[in-house]
Amino acid sequence: MAFNSYILLFFALVAAHFRCGLTNSPYSHPHFAGNRSVIVHLMQWKFVDIAAECERFLGPFGYGGIQLSPVNEHAVLGNRPWYELYQPVSYRIISRSGNEAEFKDMVHRCNKAGVRIYVDAVLNHMTGAQEGSGTAGSHYNGNSMQYPGVPFGPNDFHGHESCPTSDLEIHNYDNAQEARNCRLSGLRDLKQSSEYVRTKQAEFLNKLIDAGVAGFRFDASKHMWPGDLEAIYGKLHSLNTAYFPSNSKPFVYHEVIYYGGNGIKSSEYTRLGRAIEFHYYRELANVLRHHNQLKWLKTFGQNWSMVPSDDALVMVDSHDMQRGHTGTLGLNINFFEPKLLKVATAFMLAWPYGVTRVMSSYHWNQKIQNGHDVNDWMGPPSDSHGNILSVKPNADLTCNKEWVCEHRWRQIHNMVAFRNIAGSEPVTHWWDNGDYEIACSRGNKAFIALNLQPGQTLHRTLQTGLPKGEYCDLVTGNLKDGKCTGSTVHVDQSGNAEITINSSSDDDFVAIHVHAKH
Ligand SMILES: *[C@@H]1O[C@H](CO)[C@@H](O)[C@H](O)[C@H]1NC(C)=O
Ligand SMILES: *[C@@H]1O[C@H](CO)[C@@H](O)[C@H](O)[C@H]1NC(C)=O
Ligand SMILES: *[C@@H]1O[C@H](CO)[C@@H](O)[C@H](O)[C@H]1NC(C)=O
Repeated sequence: MAFNSYILLFFALVAAHFRCGLTNSPYSHPHFAGNRSVIVHLMQWKFVDIAAECERFLGPFGYGGIQLSPVNEHAVLGNRPWYELYQPVSYRIISRSGNEAEFKDMVHRCNKAGVRIYVDAVLNHMTGAQEGSGTAGSHYNGNSMQYPGVPFGPNDFHGHESCPTSDLEIHNYDNAQEARNCRLSGLRDLKQSSEYVRTKQAEFLNKLIDAGVAGFRFDASKHMWPGDLEAIYGKLHSLNTAYFPSNSKPFVYHEVIYYGGNGIKSSEYTRLGRAIEFHYYRELANVLRHHNQLKWLKTFGQNWSMVPSDDALVMVDSHDMQRGHTGTLGLNINFFEPKLLKVATAFMLAWPYGVTRVMSSYHWNQKIQNGHDVNDWMGPPSDSHGNILSVKPNADLTCNKEWVCEHRWRQIHNMVAFRNIAGSEPVTHWWDNGDYEIACSRGNKAFIALNLQPGQTLHRTLQTGLPKGEYCDLVTGNLKDGKCTGSTVHVDQSGNAEITINSSSDDDFVAIHVHAKH
């Protein structure tokens, strides 16, 4: 072979490597069972309810995993706001969601149902300046930085020797020294360059790994040095071989709020797992709110200044975003606008980019004043003693009124199955009207069409790429006892179907796949 041929062979091998979806980091694999592909964040559910949900719904309906709210001991604040969970007091597993025994039982039962567990891990900091007792009864004093439940003392925190601001607060989020060595909104900032701090945090993560979790969301990753995280990784066990192949590394996805510019970049974390790609929800919301035409979604992904697909975790909504703590109320899409949430989630689940996560919320009375939700602090539904209420699903799949259960909405759980069935099939048969109507197939497995053209009905013959048959429209119904409970889409011999979508109706998209066909 001539020298040039070796070079060509080299490039062919590199290209093959990327085509196969091999990722840069051993920490970017979610370890889903089978063809499962979607994570749901069950915000502040009790562990006993989550275990039951795995067996009765998430397993059978094809969900791949659950993101838990933080599970370790945290501050108890007046009125029990949700954000008290993000103020750790110790690494004991005990909160209003349950204790360590309930946690272990849940992890085991969910794994048995084919559903993975990912824990939201808060490693950057401990509490704010107050003093009190945590959810396990450990006393703490944020002023003197004493956390005997770990134990951590003042030497385990960043101070003036490493944080350049006079009040020890972060003022410039684009300055790495400040963002990572100073305090995020007053929260006591742990010094993860310390071998002792690393050891304590690795012990906590290893306890979770040994119990059978598949990985972690790392809260506030942007505020931790990648090198410190790498040192902590070096102390971690492989995943529990009762559920995972030997030498499996935990899946880690990082909260790095980055929209471009000079700040700390998502790409600094992709060798350590996936980055939560914040461009994604914002660009998608811009499109669905008619600030940018739907037709442009044809190249949605890396081409829009996002990290490569295999390095990304994406969402439409999160516990922060629905409260305007990330992004902007009015742009962010959530259950307060169900029609928009359904179509946004449908596009995300139909589109082959990133690992996808859907939000499952509890109700609170949103009250917007001057662009802020003054009730955004409200904690989960609970009784007069502060015990979190159980989720009690109805026969029609809805939940009791306190819990929104977006993940159980037909249009959303049907699109979870769509994504599982579409698998790694490429986007084919892209069609658009040059504006706000689009359609595409995922190989010969699934097809979706969306119409957001204001006041217009899409009515035309489109190529679906699918075999001839009668398909159930997953938006209006399901396949039940060999029949569609909603409308039917007829695909002819050549793969064409007549599609009708009225953008003003509740159902502004149509989706079909080969497993809901009669
Ligand atoms: C990005 O989009 C442009 C315009 O559609 C296209 O020419 C280019 O090939 C795309 N690049 C990638 C990496 O997809
Ligand atoms: C993949 O997932 C779907 C829905 O989640 C399921 O019905 C189907 O049987 C699965 N297919 C394979 C090949 O495992
Ligand atoms: C589209 O839906 C809207 C709202 O349901 C309805 O008022 C309108 O008549 C429908 N248009 C057509 C052409 O069916």
